[in-house]
Amino acid sequence: MKQTGHIKAPGNWINDPNGFIYYRGRYHVFYQHFPYEPRWGTMHWGHAVSTDLIHWEHLPIALYPTKPQDRNGCFSGSAVEHDGKLYLFYTGVRYHQENPENIHKHVDNDFESCQMLMVSDDGEHFDNLNAKRVIIPKITDPEVGDVTHTRDPKVWRGSDAWYMVLGSTRHGEGELLIYRSRDLTTWELAGQAELPGIGWMWECPDWFTVDGQGVLLFSPMGYMKDCACPPDMSLCALADFDEKTCTLRMADDGHFFDYGLDLYAPQSALDAEGRRIVIAWLRMPGPVDEGGCPWRGMMCLPRVVSVCDGRVRFSVHPDVRAAYAHPIATPSEAGNGGFRMTLELHDGEVLDIGGYRIARAGGRLRADRSAVCPHNGKCRLVSETPEIREGDHLEIYVDGNIVETYVNDGEYTLTHAVYGLGDDIHLEGSGPIALYALEKKCLSPFSR
Ligand code: FRU
Repeated sequence: MKQTGHIKAPGNWINDPNGFIYYRGRYHVFYQHFPYEPRWGTMHWGHAVSTDLIHWEHLPIALYPTKPQDRNGCFSGSAVEHDGKLYLFYTGVRYHQENPENIHKHVDNDFESCQMLMVSDDGEHFDNLNAKRVIIPKITDPEVGDVTHTRDPKVWRGSDAWYMVLGSTRHGEGELLIYRSRDLTTWELAGQAELPGIGWMWECPDWFTVDGQGVLLFSPMGYMKDCACPPDMSLCALADFDEKTCTLRMADDGHFFDYGLDLYAPQSALDAEGRRIVIAWLRMPGPVDEGGCPWRGMMCLPRVVSVCDGRVRFSVHPDVRAAYAHPIATPSEAGNGGFRMTLELHDGEVLDIGGYRIARAGGRLRADRSAVCPHNGKCRLVSETPEIREGDHLEIYVDGNIVETYVNDGEYTLTHAVYGLGDDIHLEGSGPIALYALEKKCLSPFSR
């Protein structure tokens, strides 16, 4: 199945991006996938590929449970290339009790996790029977980490060895475990890192450097204490990593990855030009039913990571921006992939995109999706950026069920899931607005 613009679930459920990599001339995004219903269940790795980050093709499911250690799910993980092969690292999950109501869900977090490897010769064939192995068995010492909640291996090549970071929890606080390997199959624990008070478990950690600066992305569970809405959030922070001692030190508590608070579990990769890019899962509070085929979950557009004045920024990928090149007059002219709009929004001005309202007040940008999100109680309807320091420039991508706003080329981003957006745009402000489609709608000769 082909898609343009954003990666959407091919049907039913998707969550985190996994194994994001540019390999043999194509971008691969694997993703957490439950293929039977539009809700979370036994995890498989779905698979999508692209040559340009814009046109995506969903391929058959890559990983699925086959071994006792992953019988209840192939949880999140990452990919590296070595000797021409694709190495996929993931967390195997095994429930201790069977849920009598639904075998696809655990009972009260009673399960164990281990870290597993699957090697694929070409990134197209995945031998789920013969090519899997356990590389880090379940953790049994609570002083190291948690037998249940230790997961999401992210692997990178250091100067003299391979390194892996895992998310875990110890004494009720989130922590990271760092492993080292010479050959990608034998791993030894080499470091632990924590910073108290930032959630109780850190999911999907990712460490990399940008222009020589270390950056950590992580998703602490229980970070927000305010309401019944998702309490788990994704953060980023500057963080140094010393390979010799395997110590990872965060400069501070970090800041939100995205201020819409819907994006979760971001994962990075290097693009074909060597830029550090990242995508993340859009948590959708409900499914979209298209012709009786429900789907739930999307990825945001690929973003380029940079560090500026001690803050991490996320700008839309230049190839994606360049592809939204067809000037249009109204959203109704946009075909697949939706449209991009640019404008300046000054203090006191309000933009309404088919019911999704973006207001600039007190220097902050505030988005309100109350009119286009019938899922009150399951997600926040209103969210805002901190005070904007640089300018007033907004670049907004609108594609069916997602609105992504990039402020001043990624100083802040604000992304939301939406339902039933209208086709009209209103600006209470000084304008002008420019609109560009990825593809223009084809008008059939009969509709003229
Ligand atoms: C994050 C997460 C990961 C886990 C996966 C399971 O959304 O909970 O920590 O590996 O999803 O689907």
